[in-house]
Amino acid sequence: MVMLFSSEDETYDWAVEFGRTLKPGDMVALYGNLGAGKTVISRGVCKGLGFDGNVCSPTYTLLHEYPNDPPIFHYDLYRLALSRLKFSPKQAAKSR
Ligand SMILES: Nc1ncnc2c1ncn2[C@@H]1O[C@H](COP(=O)(O)OP(=O)(O)OP(=O)(O)O)[C@@H](O)[C@H]1O
Ligand SMILES: [Mg+2]
Repeated sequence: MVMLFSSEDETYDWAVEFGRTLKPGDMVALYGNLGAGKTVISRGVCKGLGFDGNVCSPTYTLLHEYPNDPPIFHYDLYRLALSRLKFSPKQAAKSR
């Protein structure tokens, strides 16, 4: 499916609705060039999950954990080789 959004607001509003459909343990991967809109979508998804705080790319810290129910783990994997990554969102949630 291809969806086209003609403005940041349109993208954000879709992401809020999408975020509302997510369940604990779900993982969403965003791929895109610089400025593609990944952070706009991340903000919307977090809002849809009920988080009202600040959401920005964890470019240098790699992970932002937002206090929410369910908890939200926002990773930026740009600098990591995926093959070296041992990542399980379920495990991350359990280890809290
Ligand atoms: N249809 C659109 N949807 C989302 N953002 C858009 C759209 N049209 C223009 N923009 C603009 O594109 C930019 C997207 O920025 P954003 O920070 O979300 O990108 P990013 O993919 O997270 O970039 P980076 O990889 O640098 O972190 C914003 O400045 C936004 O206003
Ligand atoms: Mg970003």
